[in-house]
Parts: sequence; C-alpha cells; structure tokens
Amino acid sequence: MSDLLVKLYDLPDMSELMAGLASDGVDIKRAIAPEKHIVSGWVAEKFSKGWASEAETAFSNHPVSCFVAAKEGRILGFACYDAACRGFFGPIGVDEDMRGTGVGKALTIRTLQAMAEAGYGYAIIGWAGPVNFFKKTVNAVVIEDSKPGIYRGMLRTLKESE
Ligand SMILES: CC(C)(COP(=O)(O)OP(=O)(O)OC[C@H]1O[C@@H](n2cnc3c(N)ncnc32)[C@H](O)[C@@H]1OP(=O)(O)O)[C@@H](O)C(=O)NCCC(=O)NCCS
Repeated sequence: MSDLLVKLYDLPDMSELMAGLASDGVDIKRAIAPEKHIVSGWVAEKFSKGWASEAETAFSNHPVSCFVAAKEGRILGFACYDAACRGFFGPIGVDEDMRGTGVGKALTIRTLQAMAEAGYGYAIIGWAGPVNFFKKTVNAVVIEDSKPGIYRGMLRTLKESE
C-alpha cells in the first residue's frame, strides 16, 4: 500500500458536518492522557495491536496527537498524527456500526486541521488502505514509489507472518 499526500492549506470546511454530528450527540475532540488506556484497549480490540502501539505513541506527545469521536462517554472512532513518523497522519478507525455516518470524515479533517495548526504544510497518510476515502474527503494524492516506505522491514508477529 502506498502513502498519500494531503495539502493542509486547502482543507474542506467541516462546520456543517460537525454541527450534524453534534446534534446526534457525537463529539470530535482531542484525547487527554487519562483516556490513554481506553483508546489503546479499544484500538487493539477493534483493529490491531500495531495500531494500539501507534495510538499510545500519540499519547506521549504534548499535546496528545490523537483525536477521538465519542458519544455519551463511549469511543466511536480515533485518528492520530505524529505517531509512526513526524508529519504522518494515521492510523484512523471508526467502529463498524458507526461507519457511513460522517465520523471518519470529521475525524480526518479535524486531525489534519490540528496538523496545520502545529505548523505542517502537508500531511502524509502512511500505508493508506482506503485510498478512495482519502481522495474523496481531503483530495489526497498517491505518492509514487512510496511502498513500503518507512515500514520496510517492520517486525511482525508469527501470526501476522502466516
Ligand atoms: C475508512 C473509515 C475510517 C471511513 O470512516 P467512515 O466513518 O465510514 O467514513 P464517512 O462516513 O465519514 O465517509 C465519508 C465519505 O467517504 C465515503 N467512504 C467511506 N469509506 C470509503 C471507502 N473505503 N472508499 C471510498 N469512499 C468511502 C463515504 O461513502 C462518504 O461519502 P459521502 O460524503 O459522499 O457520503 C472506516 O471505514 C474504517 O474505520 N475503516 C477501517 C480502518 C481503516 O481502513 N482505516 C484507514 C487506515 S489508513
């Protein structure tokens, strides 16, 4: 899977999307340190231990470089930056039951906004799975010859090697 590039100075407006989610009780917010074990455990359960490791790294940054979607104190999705590498966006994941409701788009744009606020001009989406999702939501473009990029030679568990 290739990496993607996103212009942080040309992000789409998300005020309507955020208002719609807020009216459904969904909040998109920067995570705080006491939530680390909740986010990490949820990511490991729903996605992978590798992504949980990345989320934990995001919690070691100041400010925490992880955003969450939450409703009534329950996590619905997460997105990180500056986890695998400085300037990288991801990982991102939304609870299967909540997909298709705009949570992924809102998390993506909010997290990319935070990267712009942190001083980045462009974001790199590492090892992007759903390329069309990122093309559609934030006009991402594929970086040629970026596979396997920074992930070359990454350690794997025996199960992942099968
Ligand atoms: C990718 C993911 C985060 C999208 O989250 P989501 O909440 O379902 O996305 P949204 O509801 O915000 O979708 C926004 C738009 O993108 C479209 N979209 C969603 N997933 C898509 C995909 N895989 N490919 C193309 N378009 C997609 C939606 O149809 C929607 O279009 P619309 O604005 O015209 O209605 C979610 O499917 C997910 O968690 N996948 C598993 C983890 C993953 O692959 N993460 C990426 C790692 S790089």
